[in-house]
Parts: sequence; structure tokens; C-alpha cells
Amino acid sequence: MTAYYEAAKDSDIQEGTMKAADVKGLHVLLSRIGGEVYAVSGTCTHEETDLGLGFMLEGHVSCPLHLSQFDLKTGAVLNPPATEPLKSFNVKIEGDTVFIEVS
Ligand code: FES
Repeated sequence: MTAYYEAAKDSDIQEGTMKAADVKGLHVLLSRIGGEVYAVSGTCTHEETDLGLGFMLEGHVSCPLHLSQFDLKTGAVLNPPATEPLKSFNVKIEGDTVFIEVS
């Protein structure tokens, strides 16, 4: 069943930054780009490195291990060695709480 679960405080995600969170057993990466909050899987699809340890630049996250980049809005992989995209999640915000949709 799909439902929304609390992931973070909205005020903890500043413009141009990202924040890792664990939600219902999933490691996710939240980011704010152009005022909007986005959520993608926080684990690299290449060798399962924590992307929360990576760095964000211009809406992309770079994996700290082999430097594949992923689009934080869509999860799309932008360069090898990773070839699979990150899963992206629907986001909703109520008050100061960010929720993501998990099935
Ligand atoms: S583990 Fe992320 S690019 Fe290799």
C-alpha cells in the first residue's frame, strides 16, 4: 500500500543543499532546488555507496566513490560507471514537515 511518511523538517533543507534520511527502511536523499523539495534514493546504483556523503552541485549529486552523477529532481544517471537511475519519490509538505510517498 502506498502512503506518505515523514522524512524531515522542511526548514532543515536549505536551498541548494541536500539531506539524507531513513524512511520506512529506505535510505533517501532530500534536496531543495529552485525552492522545491525533491526526494530520490540515497544509495548509489553502482556499488551501493551512501550518496548522502557525496556533494551537490547545480542540482546533481556526485557519488563520493566513483563520481557518477545523478539528477536530484528525477534520479537520472548522468555519467558512468553507474548505469541505473535512482528511484524518485513524490513529496508533499505540510507545515514544517516533508513527507515522501512510499509503496
Ligand atoms: S559506488 Fe557510486 S559511482 Fe561507484
